[in-house]
This record gives sequence, structure tokens and C-alpha cells, in this order.
Amino acid sequence: MSAILETKNLGKRFGAFAANSEIDFSVQKGELRAVIGPNGAGKTTFFNLLSGIADPTEGEIYFQGEKITHLAGPRRVARGIAKAFQTANVYPDESVFQNCRLAALAHTQGLFKLELFRPSSRDANVDTIAREALELVDLYEMANLRAGDLSHGDKKRLDIAVALATKPQILLLDEPVAGMSLEEVAKTDHLIRGLAKQMTVLIIEHDMNMIMGISDSITVLHQGKILAQGTPAEIRSSKTVQDAYLGGHDEGHV
Ligand SMILES: Nc1ncnc2c1ncn2[C@@H]1O[C@H](COP(=O)(O)OP(=O)(O)O)[C@@H](O)[C@H]1O
Ligand SMILES: [Mg+2]
Repeated sequence: MSAILETKNLGKRFGAFAANSEIDFSVQKGELRAVIGPNGAGKTTFFNLLSGIADPTEGEIYFQGEKITHLAGPRRVARGIAKAFQTANVYPDESVFQNCRLAALAHTQGLFKLELFRPSSRDANVDTIAREALELVDLYEMANLRAGDLSHGDKKRLDIAVALATKPQILLLDEPVAGMSLEEVAKTDHLIRGLAKQMTVLIIEHDMNMIMGISDSITVLHQGKILAQGTPAEIRSSKTVQDAYLGGHDEGHV
């Protein structure tokens, strides 16, 4: 087994406040790992550090064995790290298709510089990538709609498609089913299981039924630190986790 993504003593301070600290984290290639924890635990901050949206104040990050601690976000995307945002991040006035196309174009531009593709083959290639990404999330039939006109659930799936259009090796999903109807949750659950067969997936989510059902393993963050890690069964029965988190919240019925 080889770790695709690893952190050593990773930390992020905002002034005196440590939003993340002492995070030693490792995820294997092909794994579906959930990151859970109460609001304010530092989950989004952690994903921002992994994806290069924020710069750590301590520690290191390694992707496929190479240090990427301070590598710029777009360069991480080019290497294969993609993040879908907690709040769907789409261009509302562009079409669904164009949103994906722009992501595919931004990603492949790095490759064109190496002349892996002739410019004439570029547009067809970008269109194919955009189409495949939309098909994966079951949105291709809505390709010509204005992104801003999609339902909340479809917008969030478009956000995943935009991430997929960058051809990631590892996909970071921050609360992909937040605010979705039960029907949309079921559809997205199915989608994520399918994606997990093709790539490594890290997912932050509060829906415990979903998390316990789809994860290979779970990391629990609490006050910016790792509180526990294990299989869904281990996390469910952990006294430490129950005391710190699961016991006192709605998320407790697991
Ligand atoms: N840019 C920032 N400046 C100051 N504090 C921040 C910033 N981003 C996050 N925080 C703080 O860090 C803590 C963790 O936030 P976050 O990572 O969003 O938690 P989670 O996603 O687990 O709910 C919170 O207390 C939040 O207020
Ligand atoms: Mg968050």
C-alpha cells in the first residue's frame, strides 16, 4: 500500500488561534476517506491546506511522495488534486457545459505547453473531457442550461463535475450533500460510490448515515486536531468520539 497523500505535523494558525494543528494524516490510493467533526473543528481549513487554497503555518504535505506544502493551488490541480467546494462554486451565467469546459481547458492548458496535444485537437479533447465529467454526475442532459438555473442539488453535482473535468487522482468533497433533499442525497451517495471506484476520494460530511455507509475509513477532527481514526465500525463504537462529538449531537444516531 502506498500513501497518495500525506501530511506531517500540519498546522494552520490565524493569529493565536490554531484552526489545524499537529495533523499527521495519510490516505492510501483508491481509499474513500471521510473527515468528520463538529462545526468549527477545522475540516474545511484542512481541505484548504491540502488543495492549496490556504498556506500552512506548520508542517508538510506530500502528494505521491513529493512535497507540495507550499505549491500553488493551480499547480496542485495540474498534478491531480481537485476540490469541490462547500458552497457550490459555479459561474451562474455560463451554461452547465461551459462551466465544465472552462475547468477542462484550464487543466489541459498546462499540457499543451508541453505540446502533448496539437492545438487543433485541443478543442475536441476539452469537449470530450467536459462531456465525460457531466455524464459521470448524470447532468449531461442539462448541458445547455444556464448553471444558475439548476436546482441546489444539481448545482452541487455540477461543482463535482467541474472538479472531475480537471482529471483528478484525488477528489476532495466538502459537504457534497449539505442542503440536499433525501432523493438528491441518495443520488449523490450513488455517484460518490461510483467515483470512489475510479479515484481516491476525501469527503467531509455531516450526514452520518451516508458516511458510515460509504467510507473505507474515517478521520475525526476535533478542535483542529485528529481525535480518532478507524473504520466506520471502530469510529461508531469509540468512546472518545462519542464523548467529544457523536453523543451530544443529532449526528448521534449512527
Ligand atoms: N480565514 C480565517 N480567519 C480566521 N479564522 C478562521 C478562518 N477560517 C477558519 N477560521 C476558524 O477556524 C475554525 C475552523 O473552521 P473550519 O475549518 O471552517 O471548520 P469546519 O469546516 O470544521 O466547520 C473556526 O473556528 C473558524 O472560525
Ligand atoms: Mg466546513
